[in-house]
Amino acid sequence: MIRVAAVADVHMDSDVLGRYRPALEELPDKADVLLLGGDLTRHGSAAEAECVATEFRDLGVPVIAVLGNHDHHRDQVPEVVKTLEGGGIAVLEGEGTVIDTPGGRLGVAGAKGFGGGFAGRCASAFGEPEMKAFVQTTCDAADRLSEALRRLECDVLVALTHYAPVPDTLLGEPLEIYPFLGSYLLGQAIDSAPTALAVHGHAHMGSERGVTPGGVKVRNVAHPVIKQAYSVFHLHARARAAA
Ligand SMILES: [Fe+2]
Ligand SMILES: [Fe+2]
Repeated sequence: MIRVAAVADVHMDSDVLGRYRPALEELPDKADVLLLGGDLTRHGSAAEAECVATEFRDLGVPVIAVLGNHDHHRDQVPEVVKTLEGGGIAVLEGEGTVIDTPGGRLGVAGAKGFGGGFAGRCASAFGEPEMKAFVQTTCDAADRLSEALRRLECDVLVALTHYAPVPDTLLGEPLEIYPFLGSYLLGQAIDSAPTALAVHGHAHMGSERGVTPGGVKVRNVAHPVIKQAYSVFHLHARARAAA
């Protein structure tokens, strides 16, 4: 069994420092890895990223992250990534990594993702160049995620995004903003590989549980949704999520 802890939307700044630390001290007893599903900072500054690095440093388990839209806001992505990596956090964008755990090899493929909406109610690459660029951004993100998932050789495969791959976990959010919260193309990417679990954030008012059209369990681990420092999922080799 592999134990995967995950949280998203921690939105760190100096006034948040220490909020997660008491629960994080117990992490090695509960999980083999911690996944951070984006919106790690409040506005994407390097100073806020330093708070993330401080909060999630030296946990005794590997920490793997994707960025969220907030982490892009100040246009300081290279500095943010460098600061996070300085704290020992691996940041994935269209890439994967494999971790050896006592329960087997865990593969994690990560990409921020993007919006666009869900099947039957989605944006299409038609009309103005701005609209085509918007849709192409999502297509590219989904392609990168799919390639990263299919490349990994491991016993258990997990997809990590910021944006939602299914509408199920958006329940509670206003319908009008669904196209800005995720895309069905991410769900298709997740279904293109033998993914055991997909975790995401971004939908602060959404709900916790969903499933892709291909049957992969999806969990919205945004902190305001799970209302705890992290959720832990127990995964078995080539099986679906048990928690
Ligand atoms: Fe957020
Ligand atoms: Fe977000």
